[in-house]
Amino acid sequence: MNLTRRDFPADFLFGAATSSYQIEGHAQGGAGKTHWDNFAATPGNVVRAENGDRACDHLNRMDEDLDLLKDGNFDVYRFSTSWARVMPEGRGAVNAEGLDFYERLVDGLLERGLKPAATLYHWELPSQLADLGGWRNRDIANWFADFTEVVMSRIGDRLWSAAPINEPWCVGWLSHFLGHHAPGMRDIRATARAMHHILLAHGRSIQVMRGLGMKNLGAVFNFEYVTPADATPEAAEAAALYDGYYNRFFLSGVFNRSYPENVMKGLGPHMPNGWQDDFDTISEPVDWVGLNYYTRKIIAPDSGPWPHHHEVPGPLPKTQVGWEIFPDGLYAFLKRTHEGYTRGLPLYVTENGMAHADRLVDGQVNDAARIEYLNEHMARVKRACDDGIPVKGYFVWSLMDNYEWALGYDPRFGLVHVDFDSLQRTPKASYHALAAALAR
Ligand code: FCB
Repeated sequence: MNLTRRDFPADFLFGAATSSYQIEGHAQGGAGKTHWDNFAATPGNVVRAENGDRACDHLNRMDEDLDLLKDGNFDVYRFSTSWARVMPEGRGAVNAEGLDFYERLVDGLLERGLKPAATLYHWELPSQLADLGGWRNRDIANWFADFTEVVMSRIGDRLWSAAPINEPWCVGWLSHFLGHHAPGMRDIRATARAMHHILLAHGRSIQVMRGLGMKNLGAVFNFEYVTPADATPEAAEAAALYDGYYNRFFLSGVFNRSYPENVMKGLGPHMPNGWQDDFDTISEPVDWVGLNYYTRKIIAPDSGPWPHHHEVPGPLPKTQVGWEIFPDGLYAFLKRTHEGYTRGLPLYVTENGMAHADRLVDGQVNDAARIEYLNEHMARVKRACDDGIPVKGYFVWSLMDNYEWALGYDPRFGLVHVDFDSLQRTPKASYHALAAALAR
């Protein structure tokens, strides 16, 4: 790596991230069905209809995986807790085995000197709650508050940090407007409701955790840099709207108690009654903000229905999943989040990394392209630190290859290679390079 730990402030933390459905093996350990199981079982949604039944079998290989984190010289492990593993039907009965698992995970991290950073919801909604309308139903805020209480009453006292929901944009827009993720809806009314209820649930969850006396609570948002397709005012407007519903909507809700005007032109008529009265809950103070960043999009206007625009392919080098590599976007979002919204709160890059068609050859994976990607993005993080932006950590997505949602098991995002037949883990060149850079 070009940079090492010593190039960053002394209290800067490095980590790696995963999520429950993507690694644990959801058919095991008494977890309930989730909307991802249903979505994957429906033809056309997921490559080869692959699901998280076995995934990386992390449930049974947790110790080995935690050792990888320790040996990689990471400070933080960002993981998530599956709602359906803890409460198989989403409400009511608790699966003791699930709760025990997360407690062993947290204790295993602490034993190894690692900081546990929990996310309560990384997308696997229990099927029974999906039947009741899922994120479209306002009651989800209270269901989620109850789930928060169950999990955090057990592990909240030992966490380094906690965040309610991973990437509200994906839960709202990607899953209810574009239909690319579970529950695979393409419905503007569902989208408006989901986007608002996610923030309401976020706020309720923060309240519950505060009530339990927990500290270091945050929110994790994902961002895509937007470039207008040309220099016309129409393209600028299209790009601003994309930026509005992707990058600004959730930050505005939490920090400015409002939603962007250009977004509300389209979503306004579909919002649930009384949404304007929810900002006391939504703007519940948080202690930090996490940014997930991967790529940028080029947006062109068109004469179709709102939002009147579409993506066009860009010229930059791309990752295995076709995402353009654009490191400057990470710097831009750190600066904008700090100056425009969080105004001094600590920021963490909670996800960054690349998919690459890695191959295991003679027991080794030479992922030079990933090392380069990390070099470039870490350099932008360092620049942000040098410019006085309070970035306090950088976490790589992902510790290991895993279930990449609708793209199944093809895209490899890991620092550690996983053979999905034998389940053998093999640290890649990027893992070794980072471990050397992060050595104390
Ligand atoms: C993020 C998700 C994560 C993973 C990466 C590639 O949007 O949070 O689960 O899929 O993208």
